[in-house]
Order: sequence, then structure tokens, then C-alpha cells
Amino acid sequence: MAQAVLNLSRLFTTARATLAPGYLDDQAHAAAYRAYFLPVNLSKVQVLLDELPRDNVAGEAGRPMTVLDLGCGPGTGSLALLDWLWYRNPERAKSLSVLAADSSPGPLQETKKLWDAYCQEVGIASTGLRCLGGNLEHPHKGDLGKQIAKGGPYDLIIMANCLNELFVTAFDPPAERAAVVGQLLPFLAPHGTIMIVEPALRQTARALHQVRNHLLKQGRCTVYSPCLHEGACPALDHPDDWCHEERPWQASPAIAAIDQKVGFIKDALKFSYLLLRTDGRTIVPRSPQTFRVVSELRELKGDTRAWLCNELGRLEIGRLDRAASATNAALEVCHRGAIIQLDGVRRKEGSTLERIPAEGTVEIIRSA
Ligand SMILES: C[S@@+](CC[C@H](N)C(=O)[O-])C[C@H]1O[C@@H](n2cnc3c(N)ncnc32)[C@H](O)[C@@H]1O
Repeated sequence: MAQAVLNLSRLFTTARATLAPGYLDDQAHAAAYRAYFLPVNLSKVQVLLDELPRDNVAGEAGRPMTVLDLGCGPGTGSLALLDWLWYRNPERAKSLSVLAADSSPGPLQETKKLWDAYCQEVGIASTGLRCLGGNLEHPHKGDLGKQIAKGGPYDLIIMANCLNELFVTAFDPPAERAAVVGQLLPFLAPHGTIMIVEPALRQTARALHQVRNHLLKQGRCTVYSPCLHEGACPALDHPDDWCHEERPWQASPAIAAIDQKVGFIKDALKFSYLLLRTDGRTIVPRSPQTFRVVSELRELKGDTRAWLCNELGRLEIGRLDRAASATNAALEVCHRGAIIQLDGVRRKEGSTLERIPAEGTVEIIRSA
């Protein structure tokens, strides 16, 4: 098992070019994915479900929540949602309707098996899931296209860790991937969300930033989260920048045991993501003073720094220890992914650094 986790991990990172279609049809890979990658990715999806507006998941009364889980693998997104709903709104969980699709038969069988097992465990009927084979590169084609059209509109479309596997040999993969996402947008319910989760690697995260730029340029959707603006992604301005999340996470004993064998430390959920909508709704009201923290806090000698992002671009802020005050103390507990409001920052002429003075204010509007 540990060896298969290592192999898969290599295929998802340093040996990405050798990732062959159908890799989850391999029994050893499937078992490793189920034991290690599924629980981790499931937690990532649940973190993002927590970010969605309540009415996205509460849905309309009398209508089941309708969901597409594309590139579903062993049903990670579907199971994440089923479990998340079960603990918050069991009636919604009971009526949940999911169409899960993948190009490989193995993961689809696994999805059905795990879904049925979960439903049996909590004592609900397992009729809400349909699994379907199909190629996501052409979501309109064949049975997949027909079923997607027939089953919509969708409250949620989940594309977890699969976008980066599409069009890998294309001339412009991000443009092709954006076109696929664009083809799915018409199937969203008016209050619906497309949730895209990708690995936190520089290559895959930057490709996702490019997908975002293509989609926003076409004006066909807006970003609910994580971005606080609709402009071009400023992380793409510098080849070493990429935007990703790192959320605290407590690994289960089973994951910790695998970690110990393979030498990994899974103490945080690392990923990049996009929550896209067509109703213009945003995670918080936007303003030039409202920023997403896109780095860790860096403690320098006598200075605390962080990178922020909003409609003004990607900018570095710093607060000298001697400028520490009650109004800017919140900076000390800022973390990657938090949304903060800054007032009274100043920039010295010729400097690229925004300084928070003693009279400046830092307020955390939303923790990550
Ligand atoms: C890394 S797994 C992600 C599985 C699951 N969504 C998760 O987050 O754990 C990627 C999945 O995408 C599927 N996939 C890759 N290319 C595909 C394509 N062209 N059409 C449909 N599914 C595809 C793979 O078979 C695999 O199951």
C-alpha cells in the first residue's frame, strides 16, 4: 500500500508526464487512492462547501439538491457532499441527486460501492447517485452530454483534481480547459456554483489561474472565491508566484500511519481552487481596502510581512514592530487565505511595500 501511495504521489507530482489514462483502473493504484488521496481530497471539498453561501446548499424547498461530480474518481466529491449534508441537513442528504462521471470504469464502480456503503451506514436510500462513463474533454458529446443536459440545472458542479488531467498534450491546455468549464456554465442553476479544486503545485495552480483568466475575459461567469476581483490574475505576472491554500488539518490515524511509512507529513490541506458563479455573488463585499492574504506571515527582524491580493493587484504589506498597536494587532494572527480589511496603509515614494502605521487598522473579515 505504502509503495502504491508513493507511486501515485510521484505520478501526481514529479512524473506527471507519465500519468496514463485509466491509472485508477489499476488495482494497487485504486486501493492507494481510496486509502490516502480520497480522504484528503474529500476534506478539501468539504472545506470549500463551508465557503458556499447557505442557499447554494440549502437549495429551493421541495427540490432536491442536484449535483454533477465530473472526473469523480472513486466519488470523492459526491461522498464529501453526502457526508457534509448528512451532518447539517439530513433531509437534503436523503434527497441529494448526483450524476458522477469519469472516463475510467474502475473509479465509477468504486463510487457506487462507497456511496452505497455510506448510505447503508447512515440508513438512507442510496438511489440518489447515477454513475456514467464519458470523456470530459467533450462534455457535450455522447451519453454524457445527453445526461448532463437532462439532469440539470445543477446547484453544484464539482471538478476536483481532474481539470489538470485534461488536454495535457494540447497546444494551449488552459484555453481548452476553460472551454470545457464554459460549456458547463449554462447547466448551472441561477444560484449554482462550479467548484474547481486543483493540486497546490506551481504548474497546476498557474494553469488554473490561466483558466480563470480565459473565463473572466469571456465575461461568462464571476469568481465567488478565492479572488476578490475579476481582473487578470496578478500571480501570473511573475513565474515564481502561484496562489494556493494551506488549511490546517488533522490527519486520521490511518493517513498518519501511511505518512510514517512513506515519509510524508499531511498536516495541512494544500490546494488551489475556484468557486465560479453566474449570479455575480462574491464571498464578501469587495473594496480597494479588502484583501485576501496570499502568503504566510513572514516574521523578519523587527518587521512582519505578508502578500495580499485584490483589485489593486498583488502587493506586499509590512508592519514594523515599533508600529504595533491595538488597531493593527490582528495582523499577527492573519494567515494564508484570510480576508482582511486594511485602513490607513502608506507607501513611501519609490517603494513597492505598503506600510501599516500605528494608527492603521487591520481587521480580519473572514478566517480561512
Ligand atoms: C486525481 S483523480 C480525482 C478524483 C476525484 N475527483 C478526487 O478529487 O479525488 C482524476 C480523475 O479524473 C479522471 N479523468 C481524467 N481524464 C478524464 C477525462 N478526459 N474524462 C473524464 N474523466 C477523466 C480520472 O480517471 C480520475 O478518476
